[in-house]
Amino acid sequence: MVPAPDFHLHGSDIFIGNLPTIFSQWLEGKEYSKVVVLTDQNTQRDCLPLMAPCLPELAKIITIPAGEQHKSLQTCDYIWNGFLEHHLDRKALLINLGGGVVGDMGGFCAAVWKRGIDFIQVPTTLLAMTDAAIGGKTGVDYQGVKNIIGAFNAPAAVLVDPLFLQTLPERELLSGLAEVLKHGFIGDPELLEIVTKSHPTKWEHSDWTTILHKSIAVKVKVVDQDPFEKGLRALLNFGHSIGHALESYFLTTNSPITHGEAIAIGMICESPKTSRKRVADLIQAFFPKVAIPESAFPEIWQYMQQDKKNSSGAVLMAVPDEYPLSVKLIPVTETQLHETLRGYNV
Ligand SMILES: NC(=O)c1ccc[n+]([C@@H]2O[C@H](COP(=O)([O-])OP(=O)(O)OC[C@H]3O[C@@H](n4cnc5c(N)ncnc54)[C@H](O)[C@@H]3O)[C@@H](O)[C@H]2O)c1
Ligand SMILES: [Zn+2]
Repeated sequence: MVPAPDFHLHGSDIFIGNLPTIFSQWLEGKEYSKVVVLTDQNTQRDCLPLMAPCLPELAKIITIPAGEQHKSLQTCDYIWNGFLEHHLDRKALLINLGGGVVGDMGGFCAAVWKRGIDFIQVPTTLLAMTDAAIGGKTGVDYQGVKNIIGAFNAPAAVLVDPLFLQTLPERELLSGLAEVLKHGFIGDPELLEIVTKSHPTKWEHSDWTTILHKSIAVKVKVVDQDPFEKGLRALLNFGHSIGHALESYFLTTNSPITHGEAIAIGMICESPKTSRKRVADLIQAFFPKVAIPESAFPEIWQYMQQDKKNSSGAVLMAVPDEYPLSVKLIPVTETQLHETLRGYNV
């Protein structure tokens, strides 16, 4: 019997629990002509062994190199070649076993293969479990621009098993934790309390099932109300206007920072004055301060001007409005950005 999903979002069932059990039950009675698993080199080594016992005997594996630099049309070409080689017809199932890179790219490859085949997301990073695998956005980077080619394509199911976090490097775990905190700030104060108390920076120490359940619930609620990014979904970009700009800037230095580290700073800097200290105290319990050189402020401003949320020349930040779940788009000037970064540095 198929277990009851924890969430249902636009045609996707989302389950949290033991992957082999849930997957076997989910697959029962479905008549897929073929099952293909997409992994990257790391998830092939660390995650496939957990999934292998429940895969059909004839399942095929396609493995791509790990890392954002491979989230490209060239890699899609390699994946589609694999589909051809394995004779995938319209009734095939693709399983994306990996972080956001594998999930976004696999979902895109599935969207256009024979005009669309079923796929499921099996996220293996904290970031993918709580964010990337939920919501149906798929795509790849192109000519240095992130996620610029893609499609909305809902997975048939998302299977979240916290056990995969066991092998995830700690810095990646922490990166995902920034998105969990974001979900807490925008929609669930109790989640913030649990995270603060349990301090889940290691796999061993935490009740991941509860944390993931609460964190995914916030993303599901927001996406459910705004499937095509017309309004409320901007709330998920809290911390990302300044955060993305910092991520891009630090990529050009000898000490790049992770996406999560960048949006952690972003959330502090984008918080209204009234809640800034509370946000900063909470975030800095997990993320040590990063010095942002004053000479880089103009460059960071340049990056902010490229943000997707901007309209008619104004640079906009998405900031949580009053609880529950609502968003304000606030225009920001270069002078204000400099001030806020200076404030962060002291
Ligand atoms: N679709 C969306 O809505 C959405 C939302 C947020 C982010 N994203 C995308 O997600 C991507 C980032 O995702 P990510 O942080 O998961 O990066 P990632 O997929 O690159 O994974 C990070 C690293 O961890 C390794 N890894 C993954 N799982 C592992 C495990 N269990 N054990 C050991 N190693 C493991 C990977 O091989 C990789 O080296 C970006 O491309 C971003 O654009 C998409
Ligand atoms: Zn993010």
